[in-house]
Amino acid sequence: MGSGVIRAPSVSRFGTKVMSAGASTPPESVMSGARKIVVLGAGNVGGTLAQRLAESDLAEEVVLIDIIEGLPQGKALDIQESAPILGFSTRVSGSTSLDALAGADIVVETAGLARKPGMSRSDLLTKNAEILRGHALAVRKHAPEAIVLIVTNPVDVMTFWFREVSGLPPGRVFGESGTLDTARFRTFVAQALHVAPRDVTGFVLGTHGDTMVPLLSLTSVSGVPLTQLLKADQLAAIVERTKKGGGEIVELLKMGSAFYAPSAAQAELVRAVVLDERRLVPVTAHLEGEFGLKGLCIGVPAILGRSGIVRVVPVDLSPSERTAFDASAQAVRADLAVLAALPRAA
Ligand SMILES: NC(=O)c1ccc[n+]([C@@H]2O[C@H](COP(=O)([O-])OP(=O)(O)OC[C@H]3O[C@@H](n4cnc5c(N)ncnc54)[C@H](O)[C@@H]3O)[C@@H](O)[C@H]2O)c1
Repeated sequence: MGSGVIRAPSVSRFGTKVMSAGASTPPESVMSGARKIVVLGAGNVGGTLAQRLAESDLAEEVVLIDIIEGLPQGKALDIQESAPILGFSTRVSGSTSLDALAGADIVVETAGLARKPGMSRSDLLTKNAEILRGHALAVRKHAPEAIVLIVTNPVDVMTFWFREVSGLPPGRVFGESGTLDTARFRTFVAQALHVAPRDVTGFVLGTHGDTMVPLLSLTSVSGVPLTQLLKADQLAAIVERTKKGGGEIVELLKMGSAFYAPSAAQAELVRAVVLDERRLVPVTAHLEGEFGLKGLCIGVPAILGRSGIVRVVPVDLSPSERTAFDASAQAVRADLAVLAALPRAA
């Protein structure tokens, strides 16, 4: 090209105008984007995610939905009023009606209850599954073409449940947890080595929780294997801290749980879909025989693009990693069994 002429816009999968390449054409990342992203749940995670998405101009419209009247509307207006200062164009709105899902290209599920005193883990599972059942049916009705990112915990179980109730194709419903756990792992490695956090790459697989599986064999600093840079006991301490990363924040905050790093991880996945980046990232994916497992969702490496999960990428696991991964899968199956008796339909 190089003619300097801006060519007529074409239309992306999300129906948004995308300019063709040309010398004076703005970069595609500026011109492309989803038309509408809906964030279900306007709590700490949902509100912060909506802010990050609006500020990065990934969509024409970001909508927050919550059951608490005024909360989604108030947070949306507050975010919108930062647009003149920050210079973004996204329209941000809030609603308490699931009708506002209509026409969403991407839906991010962050709604749910936190565990209250006296509530068992299976009580929480059941309550959050009931909330997500309503949302899954609403997505099927109002936004059947949407790509859905699940955040609500326990995320592996909720991803499977949402997929099952909504009936959407497995590649279009996936969960975020490994990106966050990996970011925590990368942070601790960067701190130990005094290097730039972005130069540390790695993978944390399995469930979001004590049974997560950091893959040390696939971790490096700009290609230099981590095992050459840190001693075994230092690595073991970092792995332990990563496993308890969520709990460490909960203890410090005393109220609520982490939301800055989680929302950054979710925004990264949304971006990979909107811009069709084909990132190879750890995501909670529906397995159909990969890693020798089927009929559950769990954190694995996968390529993410505009159609959602393009494919799961199996990697070799050492015997101890395999044992830990199988323990993760067992934990997910035990939680899924709790949901077996719940109704799927409205
Ligand atoms: N996967 C991850 O990496 C990750 C990381 C952080 C948090 N989480 C999970 O994300 C979820 C949200 O965390 P948070 O800190 O934002 O919690 P929060 O309590 O601040 O927000 C949850 C919001 O959900 C809303 N809600 C409840 N029922 C609803 C319904 N039926 N429809 C719409 N909204 C409803 C609540 O009113 C509340 O505003 C939790 O389940 C948490 O465990 C997951």
